Amino acid sequence: MVSGTLRTASAGRTSPEASATETPALTCSHLSAVYPGRQGDVQALRDIGFSIRDREFVSIVGPSGCGKSTLLRIIAGLQQPTAGSVSFGGASRPGTGLVFQEHGTFPWMTVVENLAFGLEMQGMPRDERQARALDYANRLGLGQFVHAFPRELSVGMRQRVDIGRAFLSGAPLLLMDEPFGALDAQTRWVLQEELLRIWLESRKLVVFVTHDLDEAVLLSDRVLVMSGRPGTIRQDVSIDLPRPRDSRRDHAAIREYTWHMWQLLEPDVRSGLAIKG
Ligand SMILES: Nc1ncnc2c1ncn2[C@@H]1O[C@H](COP(=O)(O)OP(=O)(O)OP(=O)(O)O)[C@@H](O)[C@H]1O
Ligand SMILES: [Mg+2]
Repeated sequence: MVSGTLRTASAGRTSPEASATETPALTCSHLSAVYPGRQGDVQALRDIGFSIRDREFVSIVGPSGCGKSTLLRIIAGLQQPTAGSVSFGGASRPGTGLVFQEHGTFPWMTVVENLAFGLEMQGMPRDERQARALDYANRLGLGQFVHAFPRELSVGMRQRVDIGRAFLSGAPLLLMDEPFGALDAQTRWVLQEELLRIWLESRKLVVFVTHDLDEAVLLSDRVLVMSGRPGTIRQDVSIDLPRPRDSRRDHAAIREYTWHMWQLLEPDVRSGLAIKG
């Protein structure tokens, strides 16, 4: 049963708390994306519109293939939309930390060099960035592997390097595409906490794609629930749970949100897989 207390905002509008005068930090307006294909065009996104305020943590959930990665690449400026636009409150795109589904480590750099890369780009002196990267390698459980190359690591370890680099970059905009997907459950919990700690300390704007509805509720201020392809924003759900949240203590409230989202997603997930309910 879905409680009447869950708050949602219509697609294309800012969340209800945003004051009328506040300039959103990120606005996507009428975004569409079409890929040409041998068997005809594939419309990945259709008329996507939403705004995110500074310091908000927003997750995106949706059926596989609904265009979540496409949307993130467009926000990152790595891909042009077929129609529509992305604008930033501060005019130009802010410094952006990226963690994508495909592994983003540099294969020719060691773990510590990979971690320090963003700091080097910021012009941090060598000793300082080395110290920070080593400290972070330890925090990510990679202390014994600081001089290893990505090919010598497990999938989850490589993903930790990629996450660490984005965390260390200090970029005000973090775009993360299923960053914890390749991690075991315990590592995932620890890195969820670390991500929240970084977000609370530095108050970055985070856009976080996940398939895990519990993770979305645990971490986010708002969750954008997408439809199946062509992806549209089906509902903008505000998560009104106090922080810090605890997946065990707040289990019932979290479950209420995830159940609501699953009801929105289920028909499209089933039809995408051609499995009837
Ligand atoms: N480079 C590309 N060329 C052609 N089609 C593409 C390309 N990238 C994505 N697509 C198509 O666009 C649609 C959306 O893909 P996208 O990767 O954005 O989905 P997604 O929601 O991230 O899926 P998943 O949850 O499985 O990661 C899919 O039908 C996919 O086949
Ligand atoms: Mg994807």
